[in-house]
Amino acid sequence: MAFTFFFRDMNTFQLIERHALPEMVHRRYIDIWDAGCATGEEPYTLAMILRERMGEFIYRNVRIFASDRNREFGDIVSRASYPEALVRRIPEEYKARYFVQEQDPGTYRLTDAIRGAVRFQEHNLTSLSPIRGDFVLIVCKNVLLHLSPEERVEVIRMFHACLVPGGYMAFENTQKLPAELRGWFEPVEADGPLFRKTDPPGGKYVHRNNYNSTEE
Ligand SMILES: C[S@@+](CC[C@H](N)C(=O)[O-])C[C@H]1O[C@@H](n2cnc3c(N)ncnc32)[C@H](O)[C@@H]1O
Repeated sequence: MAFTFFFRDMNTFQLIERHALPEMVHRRYIDIWDAGCATGEEPYTLAMILRERMGEFIYRNVRIFASDRNREFGDIVSRASYPEALVRRIPEEYKARYFVQEQDPGTYRLTDAIRGAVRFQEHNLTSLSPIRGDFVLIVCKNVLLHLSPEERVEVIRMFHACLVPGGYMAFENTQKLPAELRGWFEPVEADGPLFRKTDPPGGKYVHRNNYNSTEE
């Protein structure tokens, strides 16, 4: 269930680069939620790509809040040290710039610049309480398929409530937006997997836990 790897679902990251990144760079705080991050390869991939594309100066504003319901992943994410077998398929230019070989042979650690942007928090999505508000981007890949259709709808409603106006939400390629939520998000390119927040039909949604995002 915690299967993950660096640079997984590159299509989704390319869409983020093309659509979300140009809007992010103007913000003072670039807060991102990686929900269901497992052992951290995904949030660290995002951090590396953002640093490459934004440059060092703007990247300082990036904060990636990585969460998973499995608390044991917290130590792995914080350590940010991965065996050679997991680092092998990373593009050479990223590996050279962002990984340092450790004394323990066969392990590589992410540099402080990348590690420092990512913080882990234990969190179960089905609690329907967001970890905070005002996210510019929520990445939730290969997680929603583990939930029931009803839970999926509620979790995506929660994402809507804690995104800034016009914020983005990214899934894996196969995850569709449930029919109930048409009008809440629009795909940036036909059929997803990156969606932009719009207002729901019939007015603004107030999250039932009364979480105050800036919009509501
Ligand atoms: C297949 S991994 C996906 C990891 C990463 N997002 C990726 O796409 O490579 C699924 C992760 O979702 C987490 N997960 C499943 N249900 C969850 C829930 N209700 N709340 C938070 N995390 C959950 C699991 O613990 C696991 O780490």
